[in-house]
Formats: sequence, C-alpha cells, structure tokens
Amino acid sequence: MLQINHLYKSYGKFQAVSDLSLHIPKGDLFGFVGPNGAGKTTTIRMVCGLMLPNAGTIKINGVDALANQKEIKKQIGYVPDFFGVYDNLKVREYMDFYGSMYRMHSREIAQIAGDLLELVNLSDKTEVYVDTLSRGMKQRLCVARALIHNPALLVLDEPNSGLDPRARVEMKELLLNLKSMGKTIVISSHILSELSEMCNSIGIMDHGHLVAAGRIEDVMDDVFGSNQLVVTFDEGRERAVRIANEYAGVKVTSVGEKEMKLSHSMTKQEIAGMIATMIENEVVVTGFHRQEGNLETLFMRVTENAGAQEGGNDYAESNR
Ligand SMILES: Nc1ncnc2c1ncn2[C@@H]1O[C@H](COP(=O)(O)OP(=O)(O)OP(=O)(O)O)[C@@H](O)[C@H]1O
Ligand SMILES: [Mg+2]
Repeated sequence: MLQINHLYKSYGKFQAVSDLSLHIPKGDLFGFVGPNGAGKTTTIRMVCGLMLPNAGTIKINGVDALANQKEIKKQIGYVPDFFGVYDNLKVREYMDFYGSMYRMHSREIAQIAGDLLELVNLSDKTEVYVDTLSRGMKQRLCVARALIHNPALLVLDEPNSGLDPRARVEMKELLLNLKSMGKTIVISSHILSELSEMCNSIGIMDHGHLVAAGRIEDVMDDVFGSNQLVVTFDEGRERAVRIANEYAGVKVTSVGEKEMKLSHSMTKQEIAGMIATMIENEVVVTGFHRQEGNLETLFMRVTENAGAQEGGNDYAESNR
C-alpha cells in the first residue's frame, strides 16, 4: 500500500530523515513512534505531498506519489498535528469547504459529511461554530474532514495529543472502526500504551533513522530475543513442570505458586500441544500467554543506540 524507499530530507545542513525505507501493507494500522525531533512529522508531510524529499521514492498503491501528486492526494486523508483557526465557520460549512476542495458536488458532500459526522459522533454539532468545539471534538472533526473524499490511506500526526482519557478511547475506537472498514492507517503518537492496544505494526524512528519496523510481535521478538511463555495454573504444578521439561527446546526459567515461566523455541502448534498434554494430565491450566516486553521497553531499547540497527523484514525495505 505505502512503499517508501531510501527517503532523505534535510533542512539546510540538518539531516531530518535519512535513508528511510518502509513498506506498510494494505489494511494495517501502523504506529509511528520516536522521540521529539526524530523526523516523524517530516516523513508524514512528505508522504502526504506537502513537502518534497531530497532523494528517495514514495509509492502509494504502486503509483509514484512524487510524480503524480494530484492523483495521489485523492488517495490520502491527512490529519495534521495542529488544528487551524476557523473563525465564523460552522461544522457543516467546514465539511462543505473541504468537500468542495475535492470538487465534490454539494449533494454528495451533504450525504457523505452527514455519514462521517455520525461516524465521529458529531451529528448534533453541525450548526455549531468550529472554534467553539472542544479539542477532542476538533480532532474527530479533523478525521471526518480527512475522510471526505474516501481516501484509502489515512495519515494522522499525533491525533491524541491533548485529549482527555475518554476522548482518547473514542479516537482509538474510531481508528479501529476505520481499520475494520479496510482503511490503511498511519498514526504517529507518543502514547505508546495506546498504540500497542490498537496498532498491528509499528515503526520506530530516532534521529532521522528508522531503527525498527514491522508487526509488533515480530519487532518484539527481534529485540527481546527468544520466546518467553507464561503458563498459569490452579493445581498440578509439579506435573506441569515435568511435562514442560519433556519438550525439546523448552527451558523452565522460573516456577511460582500458580505460574511458571519458560523460554522456548516451539511453534504455536507445539505450544498448544504442550498445554493440551498438561490439561490431559490434570493440570488445571488457567491461562498461558507470551511474555513480551511492552512497547515502552521496546522503545527505550531501540532508541538507545540510534541508527545502529538496520531492518531486514517486510516493513524495513532497506535491502531492496
Ligand atoms: N521547517 C523546518 N526547518 C528546519 N528544521 C526543521 C523544520 N521542521 C523540522 N525541523 C527539524 O527536523 C527534525 C525533525 O522534526 P520533525 O518535526 O519531523 O520531528 P517529529 O519526530 O515529528 O518530532 P515530534 O515528536 O516533536 O513531533 C527536528 O530536529 C526539527 O527541529
Ligand atoms: Mg511531529
């Protein structure tokens, strides 16, 4: 869906984005993270055609975005990291204004705007002045506006900054809803816990370099190494440990009253088989999950040594 290859951007002598290559498949909800000044907004603005790179290519659905700006803008909805001032403009007029920028007919705009305002829960605000909306409402209105021309790719630059917890949950639900409608979504944010709850893939930038990218589980596995599994149980601790030890490639690393941790190199099927054997042997298994570092520890880990790592998977396409 979105393919970025060897992208560079400098401001004067300052290199803001350096050799960034990234491939985001259709239907992904991709979280773009990195410390302040990492180059996220710069990258996003290039993807959205608001700024030209010094070098590199950007393709959207296989179409060269830099050579076909006009066409490409129809495929992208952009929610910037600031909300302008809209004196004397009502919500409905605001949607009309953006719809007309895409040369849509007023009838079509009215219909779609109505649906979108409903989607973002602002149906009852159509006659309200935009400047009087709360910040959360403005952010949602911004998303509605970005969708007016039904783009396939939605790019949001920190849509959650300054939102209260409820507004953030609403934004998350809205984005998950859009993902389920088949949109590809790129969202930059500093709120890592939220990204890990909604995104299926991430890219981490630091000092202009993409230091890690891919499906969240894969990036976690790459960074944290061998798989860790936690098995919890109510009864049958000794049996559970004995069974785990019988599996090749399993090392029980700790045993507690009601849980044990193990590192392993098993496939998902083998894990399921091991759990089934435990249950057959009357271990009262209450749960099992992969023990993962969270996005925060991942972020701290990969931004420690910026630029030292290079991606080599589907997402980080630096080798292609
Ligand atoms: N117009 C500009 N002129 C000069 N330098 C700029 C300009 N815009 C951004 N920069 C610099 O480029 C770097 C990357 O900025 P960018 O806004 O892309 O970072 P970011 O990852 O979005 O950060 P944040 O998390 O704070 O939003 C920063 O060092 C910034 O100071
Ligand atoms: Mg930014």
